[in-house]
Amino acid sequence: MVNVTVGWYAMPVALATRHPPNDRHEGGIGMKLTFSRAVAALGVAAAVSVSSFAAAEDLNKAVKARRGYYQVISFNAGILFGMAKGQVAYDAELAKKAAGNLKAAGSIHADLMFPAGTDNGALKGQTRALPKIWSDAAGFAAKAAAFKTAADAVEAKSGDGLDALRSTLGALGGSCKGCHSSYRAKSF
Ligand code: HEC
Repeated sequence: MVNVTVGWYAMPVALATRHPPNDRHEGGIGMKLTFSRAVAALGVAAAVSVSSFAAAEDLNKAVKARRGYYQVISFNAGILFGMAKGQVAYDAELAKKAAGNLKAAGSIHADLMFPAGTDNGALKGQTRALPKIWSDAAGFAAKAAAFKTAADAVEAKSGDGLDALRSTLGALGGSCKGCHSSYRAKSF
């Protein structure tokens, strides 16, 4: 799980530690030290402004974006589940489009929409994202990867007839439930 805010902090810390204070007397390295200190100072200033900006409006935008993201997934999956149930007539072109959208959704860097501080405890009433998304980032990433694998498989078969499509949808539905049951609260 990539955390944008942590990324900004990490850079100046790495620069500052590369040149310990006793390097100061070694000619050219002293220059580098001064430079790295200046960069570090700028970096810290940037980190402070990024994090204070992120603390308000940006966090809400991230929540809106990811909720929209899951709505896009749900809309496209709904077309395919509708076909499987006989509520929507099977149409190879339509199925391929909807499945292609799911495949595309599976390959975007969704982790950018989960900055720290956007769990359902911090932003009550706005999100159902459980704190476990951050405390068990590897587990959450594995669920996202399972969705991607399932979406790719749906896309591969989507144009091959209703039975072929149906055979891939169980895993797709399972990938939604598999993530929601551990990482999404039942209500706001
Ligand atoms: C890797 C985890 C994960 C996977 C896979 C996943 N979801 Fe979700 N989903 C979430 C989380 C977390 C939220 C809550 C987002 C929030 O409230 O900030 C959510 C929210 C939603 C929402 C509500 C969006 C809103 O407006 O609040 C819908 C609908 C949804 N998911 C449908 C699906 C469907 C359908 C699938 C499978 C085809 C799926 N999701 C796969 C984690 C996942």
